[in-house]
Amino acid sequence: GAAAAAAGHGGRERHVLLFPLPYQGHINPMLRLAGVLRARGFAVTVFHTHFNAPDAARHPEHRFVAVPDGMSGRPPPVSVGDVVKHIRALNAACEAAFRDRLAGVLAEYSRDAVACLVADAHLLRMVEVARRLAVPTLVLRTGSAACFASFLAYPLLCERGYLPSSSQLDMPVSELPPYRVRDLMHIGMDGHELMCELLACAVAAVKLSSGLILNTFDALEAHELAKLRRDLAVPVFDIGPIHRFSPAADGSLLHQDRSCLAWLDAQAAESVLYVSFGSLASMGARELVETAWGIAGSGVPFLWVVRPGLVRGCAAPGEPTRLLLPEGFEAATRRRGVVVAWAPQEEVLRHRAVGGFWTHSGWNSTTESLAEGVPMLCRPSFGDQMGNARYVEHVWKAGFEVGGELERGAVEAAIRRLMAESDGGEMRARARELKKAAAECTGKPGSSEMAIVKMVTHMLSL
Ligand code: UDX
Repeated sequence: GAAAAAAGHGGRERHVLLFPLPYQGHINPMLRLAGVLRARGFAVTVFHTHFNAPDAARHPEHRFVAVPDGMSGRPPPVSVGDVVKHIRALNAACEAAFRDRLAGVLAEYSRDAVACLVADAHLLRMVEVARRLAVPTLVLRTGSAACFASFLAYPLLCERGYLPSSSQLDMPVSELPPYRVRDLMHIGMDGHELMCELLACAVAAVKLSSGLILNTFDALEAHELAKLRRDLAVPVFDIGPIHRFSPAADGSLLHQDRSCLAWLDAQAAESVLYVSFGSLASMGARELVETAWGIAGSGVPFLWVVRPGLVRGCAAPGEPTRLLLPEGFEAATRRRGVVVAWAPQEEVLRHRAVGGFWTHSGWNSTTESLAEGVPMLCRPSFGDQMGNARYVEHVWKAGFEVGGELERGAVEAAIRRLMAESDGGEMRARARELKKAAAECTGKPGSSEMAIVKMVTHMLSL
């Protein structure tokens, strides 16, 4: 089949080149894709920036090529607006250097040994460079199908007045149910032009390419995928949840504290709440205090990731996590909870002791959680997270959103609802059904498995 095809093509190894956007939530799915392609017989070359460079030593099976980004003096982005500007700056800064590196690789491998480049949707300039060098491209978009559909509809939604005005946040977006205005990607009036540009570039990257790869699966987004396939001229490959095909692809930028796994081993089944807000989302010092006392007051065992940078204005990287927690918190929760700076999340979610996930609703976290049947308490903060939370609550019914100001009483009540009350139990049952559906999609002859076969065949035909 396709597995043999890549390795056996004309008796020569075929190469796929990858270029992830240098953020954790984008590096992880791209390295998992690398694992999938390697397993199907391709040789993989990963281009990467110096900023947030992946650890090549942990992936001896791939080749890594650094692309100078000329941005070493620049402080890492903290706000959403910063991230959007950073993405634009990275595109500009890497373009020429990527052309050089790509030309070098092409000279080395011979042009027809290279099947294609797969670039992150936010790297339009790299897609353009590859095209000029006659290298076919595919695009990996790391969010949901629904989210990408909203990118396509964005100009129309702006024309119809949904955005940038934000006075009617709860108005349904009738073109994209079940989204409300608040669920769309937006960063307010000031950042509106920038956001429009970001999304238009992602759409352009896909339209210039020969295919769109999405980390989603049929049981989750059948309707949204069908709509994308109608609206796009390029094939769409729904190969998620991708970590299921490539479980060992660890692309963590921070050290994962594995000691928490032994602690989980000693806990009762489905008793622990896992709390993590991903790699970028942050909170104010006051929100952290309310979160801490809400967790403590709930009486529920917990594993909480407090990463460096989680609390705005505090903690230089490297500062011990526990210094961020309110005084008395450790004593109040001793033996009932563990706080770490970064967790092996995939394994944590797979652990039998974990019964709920309080998440910022990043797309990777959402799919990782659903694939393990873990229901969610959603606290989205920016980007596609609001839309993801909307689907979790409204469509998949595998969790609910905790909105408004964070206050310890509300946090306590939300945790109890998820972990101990009957409607939390219903959400757990829904999550379990989705776990089963995900396993069917990734098994043989599931839709995601078939999509991988089609993607590989497509790559070999370009
Ligand atoms: C960002 C956006 O928030 C997200 O919505 C978008 O779709 C991708 O980029 P991020 O905020 O980091 O990503 O969240 P998420 O998408 O959930 O990715 C985080 C990744 O880090 C996950 O793969 C998760 O397994 C991993 N992780 C997180 C750890 O390995 N350890 C942790 O302690 C926390």
